[in-house]
Amino acid sequence: TDELAAVQRILQLHADEPGALLPILHDVQDALGYIPADAVPVIAEAQNLSRAEVHGVVTYYHHFRSQPAGRHVIQICRAEACQSMGADALLAHAELRLGCSAHGTTKDGAFTLEPAFCLGLCASSPAMTLDEQPYARMTAKGFDALVAQTEG
Ligand code: FES
Repeated sequence: TDELAAVQRILQLHADEPGALLPILHDVQDALGYIPADAVPVIAEAQNLSRAEVHGVVTYYHHFRSQPAGRHVIQICRAEACQSMGADALLAHAELRLGCSAHGTTKDGAFTLEPAFCLGLCASSPAMTLDEQPYARMTAKGFDALVAQTEG
């Protein structure tokens, strides 16, 4: 597939680097938007690792996706300043409203919901981003309005 060809190119770029698993995974996700399941054995072989080891790293770091993201990506800050301003409640609301859990994607593929660690908007918490656009002092109502606008 085209995806595996891209993975092969990335593996070649890192061919002489021992222990390059993390940079390889970052490059694959940057290129494809996720780490396809059939790339795991290919990467494992090239890095002399077991499939389980590569799979373990992919699942350990929430940054890596095993599925393509939705058409829109929502990040909700869970760091301290936002937590103190109700970020947990906002995330719980988002999960209910979207019908998917954190790190998940809605059934229709419209939204991926991700917790984030400090979006640099601590003075206007709770903060979130939608497709990398920042939104400050987010409320449940504001969230619903934003999602409704974006869905349409
Ligand atoms: Fe949420 Fe910094 S703590 S933006």
